[in-house]
Amino acid sequence: MTGVTLSHYLVDKQRSSPLITHELRLLIENIATACKAIGVNIGKGAIAGVLGHAGTDNVQGEAQKKLDVLSNDILIRSKRANGTLAAMASEEMEEIYHIPAEYPRGDFLLLFDPLDGSSNIDVNISVGTIFSVLRRKAPKVKKPTAEDFLQPGTQQVCAGYAVYGPSTLLVLTLGDGVDCFTLDREYGEFMLTEERMQVPEDTQEFAINMSNQRFWEAPVQRYIEELLMGSAGPREKDFNMRWVASMVADVHRILTRGGVFMYPLDSKTRAKGGKLRLMYEANPMAFLVEQAGGVATTGRERIMGLQPTELHQRVPVVLGSKNEVERVTRYHLE
Ligand code: AHG
Ligand code: MN
Ligand code: MN
Repeated sequence: MTGVTLSHYLVDKQRSSPLITHELRLLIENIATACKAIGVNIGKGAIAGVLGHAGTDNVQGEAQKKLDVLSNDILIRSKRANGTLAAMASEEMEEIYHIPAEYPRGDFLLLFDPLDGSSNIDVNISVGTIFSVLRRKAPKVKKPTAEDFLQPGTQQVCAGYAVYGPSTLLVLTLGDGVDCFTLDREYGEFMLTEERMQVPEDTQEFAINMSNQRFWEAPVQRYIEELLMGSAGPREKDFNMRWVASMVADVHRILTRGGVFMYPLDSKTRAKGGKLRLMYEANPMAFLVEQAGGVATTGRERIMGLQPTELHQRVPVVLGSKNEVERVTRYHLE
């Protein structure tokens, strides 16, 4: 095996920055191990009987898939004993998860979407895991509460995602650029395969669920209409559309070759504040995109600047290539 493993990479980071502590390295290595386990289960699919519905609903009233539940269990069980976490929070759990008394409690808070893109599991399309790491501000002796998690995205110390596609990838930021690792399945190691990912400022590709068109607000109607007019319209160039319906896969494409991803506010989701969740979908993806030179807003303001009020809060999301996201945001503010 040649090249840089995730552990090797993290040891180098630890040497060069006092912010990357031994505990943080251990936490990230541990998340990577859980992602490998999730990937193995996804890979087995029907052979392991993991496809289909679990027969339960999560806190958001969404039907849980067996793999939503399994991925959540893998993350909880693999992380609760590692001594780095004060508490965890997940899309699949209404309340925060307290570290059982028999295990040591650490300084970090971990938030995750254990399986993103659930609607794609049963049809063998890429899904992923999204995570965000915060440092707990309250003293260690105090029992963690949900309020400890309500920190703006700018406070994230690390964020990333795993995408279970043709290859299993881990994409990571520690606040100094975005790097990508590919799982070497034979050795069981994540290998550094791309450093300093960059989102090009301009793009001709957009991602939005067009079936929601009639529910959108006027600025989004205008923006998409202009893209669809292509070279015959005011943008004077043709655009292409891609929509995987797994945010991880759509964001990964944007980190790789640019694009704009939108899940805007619409009249269907207005009462809930949007579709995607701030703490474990929008914030970690916004951190990655910004670290790669892109922009992430709600259409009106910077996602990472929002002061969260609820663990499972939802927000509108517009992210990706700088010039397109700025245009969409400008249309909203005009
Ligand atoms: P999750 O599977 O964690 O609930 O998230 C699904 C999200 C996101 O991945 C994706 O962008 C969006 O929902 C897809 O929504 P549509 O059903 O509107 O395509
Ligand atoms: Mn999701
Ligand atoms: Mn999910």
